[in-house]
Amino acid sequence: MSDFKGRSFLTLMEYSPEEILELIDLADKFKKMKKENVPHNDQLRGKNIALIFEKTSTRTRCSFEVAANDLGMHTTYLSPSGSQIGKKESIEDTAKVLGRMFDGIEYRGFEQELVEKLARYAGVPVWNGLTNEYHPTQILADMMTIREHFGDLKGRKLVYMGDARYNMGNSLMIGCAKLGLNFTASAPKQYFPNKELRNKCARWAEESGSVLSFETNPFEAIKGADVVYTDVWVSMGEPDSIWEERIRDLTPYKVTTELMSKAKRDAIFMHCLPAFHDLNTKIGAQMGKKFNITDMEVTDDVFRDYSEVIFDEAENRMHTIKAVMAATLGYKD
Ligand code: CP
Ligand code: NVA
Repeated sequence: MSDFKGRSFLTLMEYSPEEILELIDLADKFKKMKKENVPHNDQLRGKNIALIFEKTSTRTRCSFEVAANDLGMHTTYLSPSGSQIGKKESIEDTAKVLGRMFDGIEYRGFEQELVEKLARYAGVPVWNGLTNEYHPTQILADMMTIREHFGDLKGRKLVYMGDARYNMGNSLMIGCAKLGLNFTASAPKQYFPNKELRNKCARWAEESGSVLSFETNPFEAIKGADVVYTDVWVSMGEPDSIWEERIRDLTPYKVTTELMSKAKRDAIFMHCLPAFHDLNTKIGAQMGKKFNITDMEVTDDVFRDYSEVIFDEAENRMHTIKAVMAATLGYKD
């Protein structure tokens, strides 16, 4: 295994394709061990991990907590309102304090710059649990799930429907470019990833053989897709006033049974979750009433048809996050 010890995990950009695959291989191993009740808490027992969440979470927080526990480590959770960060204490000072107490720090927050700063000053590995721009641990779980399902990654086509210039669109594009999957973002032009990132990804794509494309027509984009992916239309931290515009702009990209029927016959649908596929959430119900809709980025029937793979994907968050923590804290495979 490559030497990951002491490294932060802020985006997939700093990791080579081989290293990304090694992390997914390690996650596969941990998953097998967990299923077979084989303990793996011998090497990192007693280490301490800080979990900073400036935005809410179900999967990411639980993944870090369960994974840390399985590795024999302790966690301290700092909630969106439970710390002084950025309010009474700078990121730099916070990083220096936490770096004296903890062996690793997870951070979920707003601008990428904040997690980068934390990593610069902490002196211990910092793991990005989602920022506005990137969600790298999610991509590891997504790639693990795609490989579990199809048996390979290279040459597969992943189509991302919706707001592709935010954390999920950006990170999937990077992951696909590095690992040799073809990536198509489908949305109105203003929702495409920015030029700078597209140019960077184009270079990795050239090396891996991946083809990146950007298509405003969802029925064109989905042709030949192995994986159809979407995410919420309004992300955490965005203002409520944006819903109307997003529903108007992105409804043509909603993943419906009709749209899925134009992908490859054995294509799968994936979603990082949480998803608005029905009105059984507070916000879903509010928006349903306000805009007279019954779902948003994906219909309930598509969501249910592919629920097995979607929940495998959610489970794989834990195995991949475990791999990232273990590798960067010096676990020897
Ligand atoms: N997919 C994901 O990051 O989920 P949470 O927001 O629940 O952590
Ligand atoms: N784009 C979403 C991803 C949630 C996992 C958000 O940032 O809210």
